[in-house]
Amino acid sequence: MNVRLFPGMLACLLHLLAIAQRPDILLADFEGETYGDWTVTGTAFGIGPARGTLPNQMPVSGFRGRGLVNSYVGGDGSTGRLVSPEFTVARRWINFLIGGGMHPGQTSMNLIVDGAVVRTATGPNDRPGGTERLEWASWDVAEFDGRKARIEIVDEATGGWGHINVDEITMSDEKMAEEIRTEPLFDESYRPQFHFTPMRNWTNDPNGLVYYKGEYHLFFQHNPFGIEWGNMTWGHAVSRDLVHWEHLPNAIEPDNLGTIFSGSAVVDHENTAGFAAGREKAIVAIYTAAGGTSEASKGQPFTQCIAYSVDRGRTWTKYAGNPVLAHVAGDNRDPKVVWHAPSRRWIMALYLKDNDFGLFRSPDLKSWEHLQTIAMPDCAECPDFFDMPVQGKPGVRRWVLTAANGRYVMGDFDGTHFTPDGPPLQVDYGANYYAVQTYSDIPKSDGRRIQIAWMNGGSYPRMPFNQQMSFPCTLTLRQTPDGLRLFRMPVREISRLRGECASLRNSRLTPGKDVPLPLQSELWDIEAELDPGDAAVVGLRVRGETVAYDAKARTLSCLGRTAPLEPIRGRIRLRILVDRTSIEVFGNDGRVSLTSCVLLRSKDRAVAAFAEGGNAKLVSLVGHSLRSVWKRQDR
Ligand code: FRU
Repeated sequence: MNVRLFPGMLACLLHLLAIAQRPDILLADFEGETYGDWTVTGTAFGIGPARGTLPNQMPVSGFRGRGLVNSYVGGDGSTGRLVSPEFTVARRWINFLIGGGMHPGQTSMNLIVDGAVVRTATGPNDRPGGTERLEWASWDVAEFDGRKARIEIVDEATGGWGHINVDEITMSDEKMAEEIRTEPLFDESYRPQFHFTPMRNWTNDPNGLVYYKGEYHLFFQHNPFGIEWGNMTWGHAVSRDLVHWEHLPNAIEPDNLGTIFSGSAVVDHENTAGFAAGREKAIVAIYTAAGGTSEASKGQPFTQCIAYSVDRGRTWTKYAGNPVLAHVAGDNRDPKVVWHAPSRRWIMALYLKDNDFGLFRSPDLKSWEHLQTIAMPDCAECPDFFDMPVQGKPGVRRWVLTAANGRYVMGDFDGTHFTPDGPPLQVDYGANYYAVQTYSDIPKSDGRRIQIAWMNGGSYPRMPFNQQMSFPCTLTLRQTPDGLRLFRMPVREISRLRGECASLRNSRLTPGKDVPLPLQSELWDIEAELDPGDAAVVGLRVRGETVAYDAKARTLSCLGRTAPLEPIRGRIRLRILVDRTSIEVFGNDGRVSLTSCVLLRSKDRAVAAFAEGGNAKLVSLVGHSLRSVWKRQDR
């Protein structure tokens, strides 16, 4: 087909091209010591832009450069107003970063034309918890083209989330805020593409992690009826490779003993409970019946119960003699059971109350005897208890007790008593790593200790599901200069998702000159080795976020969180997994990790290395793009 270009069309095209190429106009980046020609009233905004997080504030992230507007000066109680000088609207969009309270009119940024508020925006938070992260917002201001306008940033709120954060106000022909896609299912804008999420509705803790006959089972705390926590039920999915998941019907549902809180599952190889039928072994789930959390269980205490399946986890029968462990203390919950072969007994670790955890023993999963109570400072909920080999020391094993926050103690266990070596240690430093649990019954020929965490607290605006799991990690115990430590690294099966790859080797990194990988991707598996040289900071820019190693402080940071990390022979090794809503960073082969949720912009797809305050060396950088696990052709 021939297409003729008429002169009028050509002029129109040229005009469009010219518009598309017009540079942005910066209205304010708040990088100065003062607010310059903006007018400040009240106390909430201080006398000049903030330099990040203020005292007693959750970590503020997502702003550009060093400064931003942060009206938390003096806490939530303070009020004030910040008004821009007059400017002429000269582009279609006004883009800005905004965070803080969602109190329309009270914590807001407004556009004023002819004395009237014609556009307004707030932060995302209207309840406790939430996030201090700034996100892009965009106003379409085409109708005000050529008109005089002002921006005012208002903080009149004095209660919870009574503050507002703003940065990088720009007039542009391009919209910065994301268009949120709410379908198709599993390809929505904020659907993780290689992390587990429920098909619909809420999840929190991973439960009942058990391997049986080629399948990794993942049960999970689930609200089948809502996008927020409630009606706790065990949802269910299985995988043959820890990467691709098949969603199955819910496994265990609430009854008159309570809703179904967290717990574990084991294969009863020796049929100690007598549930086995025919050639199938019984998988037994040990869970908390959370009495009093539903109409049907009013007045009941929290107890521990069991259910079993003799059809590879497809259907579940609750044991008629439930509960198997009566109420012990507080809201005791989250039983994790392990087979102790030398004594031929099951051992249960159970959260009791405050910082107390209990160990219990049973011959048959049906009757339990209390062995010990262990206090773990700063720890609560979801214990895990297992023994592991020490790497490089054939025949040497240690028992490890972990709590929901992933902190752990190592020690000796003789079948009746656990003797911890010292106070709890920390492996993950990210904001979203909780309710950790490891797989039971991984075959001896594999021998791995595989852990999944709930990435608690991420936000998934307008998505049909809520919350995600961490990528499964292999735990190892390794000798370090500080003593024996738990390391965590992504399971090797991730390599099944790798697509295109780009790499750089032996590049010099100088301040102000990022060195990008010649590949763009939404999903990444990145490996890097960096020699900080005489740089103050060296690291990677990953889809618009920064993973930074501070050579002087010897710390690794990402998304406002920081982990201590010593270089090894002068170098730092990084492994970074990037999905649509998360960044997981592993330093020095898993000596520390930073597990964090974030909403990444679909347009930001680049990875680059950088150095600040001196020169550094990029020893190697390898970036693999990853395929979605939800695309049919990958199954
Ligand atoms: C941890 C937790 C558990 C409890 C479950 C309820 O996140 O509070 O202690 O069993 O969630 O959903």
